[in-house]
Amino acid sequence: MNLSTSTVLLTGASGGIGQALAREFAARGARLLLSGRDTAKLATLSAELRGLGTEVSVLAADLSSAEGVARLAHAALSGGVPDIVVHCAGALSFGRLDAVPAEEIARLWQTNVIAPSLLTRALLPALRKTGRGRFVFVGSIFGSLAFPMYATYSATKFALRGFAEALRRELDGSGIGVTYVAPRYTRTALNDGAPARIASALAMQQDEPALVAARIVDAVARERRELYFGFGERLFVKLNAWFPWLVDRGLRAQTRRMQELEPAAAGLPH
Ligand SMILES: NC(=O)c1ccc[n+]([C@@H]2O[C@H](COP(=O)([O-])OP(=O)(O)OC[C@H]3O[C@@H](n4cnc5c(N)ncnc54)[C@H](OP(=O)(O)O)[C@@H]3O)[C@@H](O)[C@H]2O)c1
Repeated sequence: MNLSTSTVLLTGASGGIGQALAREFAARGARLLLSGRDTAKLATLSAELRGLGTEVSVLAADLSSAEGVARLAHAALSGGVPDIVVHCAGALSFGRLDAVPAEEIARLWQTNVIAPSLLTRALLPALRKTGRGRFVFVGSIFGSLAFPMYATYSATKFALRGFAEALRRELDGSGIGVTYVAPRYTRTALNDGAPARIASALAMQQDEPALVAARIVDAVARERRELYFGFGERLFVKLNAWFPWLVDRGLRAQTRRMQELEPAAAGLPH
């Protein structure tokens, strides 16, 4: 796929991976439609990229409601049809399920699953008319390997992976492709607080957003169906598919350790 002649609509552009993706797409000559809620961050980023000669528009939108998604779709289509749509906006929730507020569960499903589904649906007729394009879904390794203390986040990323896989098959022969990407732990504000403390305590492998973005953009340029990060993580995903009881056993000690490290999130006396 030729990125230098492409327009990219990017959600989550104000976030850690999103900003890095914007810089990477810009470096490869793409035009950008940047979306997020934090207008100050989007303004700073777009000024930086315009300074480097990139054509950038900003479409602020809150994807936590269907109206917000519809507004974004309308704004994106009013300037033409994007060639590449990257669904990168996402929210995380950490903690034992009964210690997580009900509203947080609803917010995660809306942001991580319903918003990308509705946005794809709204943009699809226009892309079909052009007979080309690509939808990119930023999932997670937790979308293939469900993790304790991340039940809702894991469930939303499993759903997103299923959505991307079904859509890829549905769009076969249409000229429109689908790429699903599954990063592992990446150093961004998403993990601020307990997840970051746990990752350090458990010596988890951690990626920098710039490296993650470079590999994602490369996968888009090569029109890859999917991209998983980390050899060990990929191995665990396979093991989980064939021998989930082995993974249950393997994660038992880690779950206990997470609960000891973060008793509040585990609903324990602290
Ligand atoms: N960091 C990791 O370890 C990791 C690992 C695997 C997968 N991922 C996935 O990578 C993607 C990007 O995450 P990140 O690490 O870059 O996180 P981040 O720095 O927290 O950025 C999250 C982005 O999502 C946007 N967002 C959240 N809720 C939104 C809403 N209701 N409406 C519109 N935008 C909303 C944020 O916008 P505002 O800031 O403007 O509110 C921000 O741009 C997510 O889908 C995440 O699940 C991350």
